[in-house]
Amino acid sequence: MSRLVVVSNRVPLPDENGNPPPGGLAVAVHAALRESGGIWMGWSGKTTGEEEPTGLTTLEHGKISYVLTDLTQADLDEYYNGFANRVLWPIFHCRLDLAEYARQEMAGYFRVNRLFAERLVPMLEPDDVIWVHDYHLIPLAAELRKRGVKNRIGFFLHIPWPPADILTALPVYEIIMRDLAEYDLAGFQTDYDLDNFVGCLRREKWGDRTDKNTVHAFGHDFAAGAYPIGIETAEFARLAEKAGEASMVGEMEQSLNGSALMIGVDRLDYSKGISHRIDAFERYLTRNPEMAGKLTLLQVAPHSRSDVKEYLDMQAQVEAHCGRVNGAHGTIDWVPIRYVNQSLTRPVLSGLYRLAKVGLVTPLRDGMNLVAKEYIASQDPEDPGVLVLSRFAGAARELDGAVFINPYDTDQTAAAIGRALEMPLDERMARWRRMMDHLLKNDVGHWCRSFLDDLSEAPLHHAAT
Ligand code: F6P
Repeated sequence: MSRLVVVSNRVPLPDENGNPPPGGLAVAVHAALRESGGIWMGWSGKTTGEEEPTGLTTLEHGKISYVLTDLTQADLDEYYNGFANRVLWPIFHCRLDLAEYARQEMAGYFRVNRLFAERLVPMLEPDDVIWVHDYHLIPLAAELRKRGVKNRIGFFLHIPWPPADILTALPVYEIIMRDLAEYDLAGFQTDYDLDNFVGCLRREKWGDRTDKNTVHAFGHDFAAGAYPIGIETAEFARLAEKAGEASMVGEMEQSLNGSALMIGVDRLDYSKGISHRIDAFERYLTRNPEMAGKLTLLQVAPHSRSDVKEYLDMQAQVEAHCGRVNGAHGTIDWVPIRYVNQSLTRPVLSGLYRLAKVGLVTPLRDGMNLVAKEYIASQDPEDPGVLVLSRFAGAARELDGAVFINPYDTDQTAAAIGRALEMPLDERMARWRRMMDHLLKNDVGHWCRSFLDDLSEAPLHHAAT
């Protein structure tokens, strides 16, 4: 069996006993790494004051080596805060209005990818299978190829791939497309993302599909497929079942005083549509004044990427929005929106999901959205809640028992809240069962295995050159 080498911006480090941190991706990829042995490489989370990043730390846990590289502050500002999160992230989420393109940041992005390649090459063995994750590292395969690496290299994009009209607003879109074609397998979250990617190739006459999962572009074949990421479904269900034991969940239930709970859980990111959701909740309250005091929205929203201006702006906007709605609709003994920036543990989250009659997942655009899946996995099979889901989340391609909304249509989302709250038990159970069966079958372990199986069979154009 070949060794696996995983590369991602952040590395989820295990505890002192080698147990991976909670989180589907970390658990599934660790399981694969444990079986084959290998390396997980990424940024150490530390910056150095040096002009050249010097620190490279290796931690060994059984058959897995964690290779962590420091970055300089300039690297971090240009690669992560700059090009990755102020250019690629907004463009890939169709927010051209928020993209701030700067040549210097782009140079930093490619420089860090070169650094990762330089540091990885001496550790590679000829049979290693390399799996690169996400938009921070699109050029990595091209950098490895330049250094003579002929190994199988796969790439998985965790965020959406935009349509050609949007992508071409990125001044270096051709380089990004060519770099992606250096992988043996390019994996996307949904068939829409895959179609958008092929559409970009076709539009520029660079290539096209030759069959369902093979693309011919820039003079060679490579595999491209949709691999919708899953969660640890059974584990979430187990956690939720005993979550009543978590004191925070019990306290929440008591404090609701009989009022129904709706829940939203999102990183504070403009792609998540939190303000649109609050508008819809307010519209629902305005149209249903009898619900005052009988319905509470818990919005959990941990801060994210706070060094990026657009994120700071939206933090302030969402805070003000919650305050306005609470001021206008709240009473001395009822606050309509409970807004918390705390990150909650999985046992607590699963309990809160189970307590909530409605899960509100309303992103403006989202690669997958695992909260939608976690909400379903956490429900009580005898009395499940209802998922209100944006059609612009990747999860909407799978969770066909949700109540779908267009988050830009406030009236529709407000009406969906009412429909979800009033849905009869037999309909809730039928919708939930369908989605839960799907999630049990297509969990994160399945995702990981399907990607690696397909990578092991992908056409290998680099071996011949
Ligand atoms: O959804 C894309 C993603 O990069 C995830 O992989 C990650 O967990 C999340 O966004 C948060 O990103 P960051 O590493 O910037 O905090």
